[in-house]
Amino acid sequence: MERKEIVLTEDQREVQLHYIELCKSYVDELKKKLGRDVTCCVNTFGCQMNSRDSEKLLGILCQMGYIPVETEDADFVIYNTCTVRENANLRVYGRLGQLSGIKKKNPHMMIALCGCMMQEKHVVEKIRKSYKFVDIVFGTFNIYKLAELMYHRINSDGQVIDIWDELKGVVEELPTVRKFSFKSGVNIMYGCNNFCSYCIVPYVRGREKSRMPEEIICEIKGLVKDGVKEVMLLGQNVNSYGTGLPIDITFAQLLQRIEEIEGLERIRFMTPHPKDLSDELIDVMSKSEKICNHIHLPLQSGSSRILKIMNRKYTKEHYLELVDRIRAKMPDVSLTTDIIVGFPGETDEDFEDTLDVVRKAKYDSAYTFIYSKRTGTPAAAMENQVPDDVTKVRFNKLLATIDEVSHSICARYEGTRAKVLVECVNDHDSSLVTGRMTNNLLVHFPGDASMIGSVVDVELTECKGFYYLGKDIDA
Ligand code: SAH
Ligand code: SF4
Ligand code: F3S
Repeated sequence: MERKEIVLTEDQREVQLHYIELCKSYVDELKKKLGRDVTCCVNTFGCQMNSRDSEKLLGILCQMGYIPVETEDADFVIYNTCTVRENANLRVYGRLGQLSGIKKKNPHMMIALCGCMMQEKHVVEKIRKSYKFVDIVFGTFNIYKLAELMYHRINSDGQVIDIWDELKGVVEELPTVRKFSFKSGVNIMYGCNNFCSYCIVPYVRGREKSRMPEEIICEIKGLVKDGVKEVMLLGQNVNSYGTGLPIDITFAQLLQRIEEIEGLERIRFMTPHPKDLSDELIDVMSKSEKICNHIHLPLQSGSSRILKIMNRKYTKEHYLELVDRIRAKMPDVSLTTDIIVGFPGETDEDFEDTLDVVRKAKYDSAYTFIYSKRTGTPAAAMENQVPDDVTKVRFNKLLATIDEVSHSICARYEGTRAKVLVECVNDHDSSLVTGRMTNNLLVHFPGDASMIGSVVDVELTECKGFYYLGKDIDA
């Protein structure tokens, strides 16, 4: 394909749309050559930030003419990677081996790697040296450049690698393809400034930066016009939203403005940091009609001593007092959490404190993680790493305690009615649909695909641990 010169304008969005058009010509030629449609697959690892980024990547590929598929024998495969724990990393290397086999049979296949793992120098070195069949490597700050990078790859012989070490500006409003028609993630801020001592995220996602409220509201209005009923506001620490903006605005005030958007039915957010969850936020939530009845409040550890070394900036007592303040205003709120087991230096006594908080905070559910050493973080250099066998025993004990507590908590709605936003036809039984209550618990009940995206009144007939069986009241 002939290489055309690109004149860079100030407006990156226009530039990228231009590259998309150039890649579209390549895709058209490829389709003719192969005599069939060409397909793409974006595979996402990690958190909702990555899921949202993947929707942007898929939007660009679809605009070029690729048809999205779920399987990795596609003509363009992207892995949007996560590096928060080591096993996320290992999974990517394992699957790359399989991709190389597919590419041998389908030589024009393009393979791209992006996301958090690619922000680590040693990873990129490894890909450069040992995974030469990977065509394009980019990071978390330049995903909007996919078409440009692909254009360079088409016109060069080797791997194209483009990693930035900071956010230089965000290009929103490029085409996106949403996974769900009725709900969407919305970035309200990027990056993280907290540097919890175990965590790699601030190193791979850069410094915290909030988006202007008008931009966020404009995006949500557009989504609502397009059929979205529920938004999930995304940030690593949503409570510090607004810091660094030229105007004064808190997260609670942003929520109030979003609440006013007509047609929007549900607002969720992820993740608030316990160190600065304000009374203003609790107050706004308790009065809101649209903000969901759920707070994900990562604990990480119940030991004040460990929390200090983790650099979490709250104590066990402060956390429990916060839970009390939340429950005083929202008695019915569902609380979920993240907990790390086996942080360096964690003793049996520290771990007992974690179990104590689990019993007192009465979580609906908890995501539990075995501490994973991340190169470059302060905790990785700590000498008193906990032996694997000790961590394993604690981990199992934690799971058992959560089970014990959460089952009765989740069951508290049995026999009541709830509004359920239907998400999909049930995976195992096609006579059922699956939806979510505002407290994020899943409900399965008789229904069909026509109900997807609608809010249905459901009677919660039976609690099965972490989900409910129900029945449509109007059916
Ligand atoms: N910003 C969010 C967390 C994002 S990472 C917050 O502060 O809560 C998601 C979760 O991964 C964290 O809450 C933590 O429980 C877990 N995690 C992060 N780094 C980890 C590590 N090195 N080992 C094990 N779990 C980790
Ligand atoms: Fe990681 Fe802490 Fe930032 Fe969350 S707040 S992303 S755990 S550094
Ligand atoms: Fe993973 Fe990056 Fe999210 S490291 S958890 S995908 S911010």
